[in-house]
Amino acid sequence: MPEIDSREFRNWGGHFATGVTVLTVQVGNTVRGMTANAFCSLSLHPPLILVCIQHGTSMHPMFEVTETFGVNILAADQQAFSALFAEHGEHAAPMGGVPYRIGSIGVPILDGVMGWAQCRIEARYAGGDHMIVVGRVEEMAVDRPDVDPLVFYAGRYRTVGEPL
Ligand SMILES: Cc1cc2nc3c(=O)[nH]c(=O)nc-3n(C[C@H](O)[C@H](O)[C@H](O)COP(=O)(O)O)c2cc1C
Repeated sequence: MPEIDSREFRNWGGHFATGVTVLTVQVGNTVRGMTANAFCSLSLHPPLILVCIQHGTSMHPMFEVTETFGVNILAADQQAFSALFAEHGEHAAPMGGVPYRIGSIGVPILDGVMGWAQCRIEARYAGGDHMIVVGRVEEMAVDRPDVDPLVFYAGRYRTVGEPL
């Protein structure tokens, strides 16, 4: 078997269109968000989702200790949020200056996102160079049901087209 080239593998995976989320945590007095498209719903009973956190990211050590995290689903007009929360390193202002509130289970929820969920961590698994985090959804909402979602496909931001 020839070895899989990681750039080709990334390109191949990029042909699966996804939405874009910002994962948020609060650990002590520190709040942080990270852009992630490795998100999917996992189970209906119980209501589980999973996210994947790359080793070496600033979020990775926070996900090792936090018991809760937030999933913020971005709308098409929030490409700037995606870019901001994909930046390397610390932001000068908490949460990069994006307004947020702390939800009932201690999870930062960004203002103006299309939808959000507060999750409690059920399990963490090793997944190659990522940590797979399974979260149980404890509260969720779609605050902007009528806007188009931000889509990431083939390395570019897009939005959805007409229904087929
Ligand atoms: C569209 C998009 C999707 C991303 N998805 C993920 C992901 O699912 N998991 C992950 O660990 N990093 C993902 N990243 C990369 C992180 O956002 C990025 O590595 C991190 O914010 C860099 O900050 P740090 O170096 O300070 O950790 C994604 C980036 C973009 C632009």
